[in-house]
Amino acid sequence: MARNFLSILDFTPDELRDTLDLAARVKADRPRGPQAPTAQALAGRHIGLLFEKPSLRTRVTFTIGIRELGADMIEIPADVMHADREPLHDVARNLERWMDAVIIRTFGQDRLLEITEATPRLSVINALSNEEHPCQALADMFTLAERWQGRFEGKRIAFVGDGNNVCTSLVHSAMMLGASVHVATPKGYELADDTVDQAAQVSQHGAGLTEFTDPKAAVRDVDAVYTDVWTSMGQEVEYAERKRKFTRYQVNEALMALAKPDSVFLHCLPAHRGEEVTDEVIESASSLVFEQAENRLHAQKAMLLKVLTTPA
Ligand code: CP
Ligand code: NVA
Repeated sequence: MARNFLSILDFTPDELRDTLDLAARVKADRPRGPQAPTAQALAGRHIGLLFEKPSLRTRVTFTIGIRELGADMIEIPADVMHADREPLHDVARNLERWMDAVIIRTFGQDRLLEITEATPRLSVINALSNEEHPCQALADMFTLAERWQGRFEGKRIAFVGDGNNVCTSLVHSAMMLGASVHVATPKGYELADDTVDQAAQVSQHGAGLTEFTDPKAAVRDVDAVYTDVWTSMGQEVEYAERKRKFTRYQVNEALMALAKPDSVFLHCLPAHRGEEVTDEVIESASSLVFEQAENRLHAQKAMLLKVLTTPA
């Protein structure tokens, strides 16, 4: 059986910590290039990239990361996924015959589950679905681990915005590491009920999840403030309605002033400046957004090593 990474919940808390530690080693070794200890770690493996939505960071960091681990990368055009061509599970069963892993960005998480159920020998990695973005959360936790010297216990992270994919994986990962999460969303855009239940199950060191509708209450005295676009990929027809409903959830200097003085600002990017975040905040000294983007590379290399070289 191949290991999959569809969700942060596919890792135990110990595996999540190990992956962050490995990301730090991979990052430190990167200047050694072909002499890095992991430069040939995945030699002979074939890994596919199949993206049904646009991507800058995820696509580029996986492409570079796969090469830096010595594996072969194949871009699979998204049009092969059209249902009128062949069923999704048949696409997956073909891929399983040729490659070791496929990294997929798609719509519903159910599409990823359909693939994993059809392909026990293929590792499937979630490069973002409507419901979860676990690769992003790995990089986010790695970025915070660097800033907080690996200490998550007692820390509080506020997420302000839409309680969908990025927020869900943030909640899973932060709670597994022992940080509490405050989530502020407009009514109707809360975390899924399943996520709230999962958070309670995976919480370590007494970390708690608290949901708010008031963004000011959510960010008061927190150590980190996170936001994401108000309109996710695939929801473009809802843009005007969402812009209206999310207006008071903008992360601006007045909102950041309520967090701890040494708090950091996080965003998965792409950012819509002037909507969910102001220029002043994203360009401020507290902003770690480009550290997060850089760390996508190191965190995903560590995840690929974990998923492809440790038994299920
Ligand atoms: N944060 C993120 O996943 O960026 P891309 O959509 O550009 O891959
Ligand atoms: N929530 C956003 C994240 C982009 C990385 C989206 O799904 O479009």
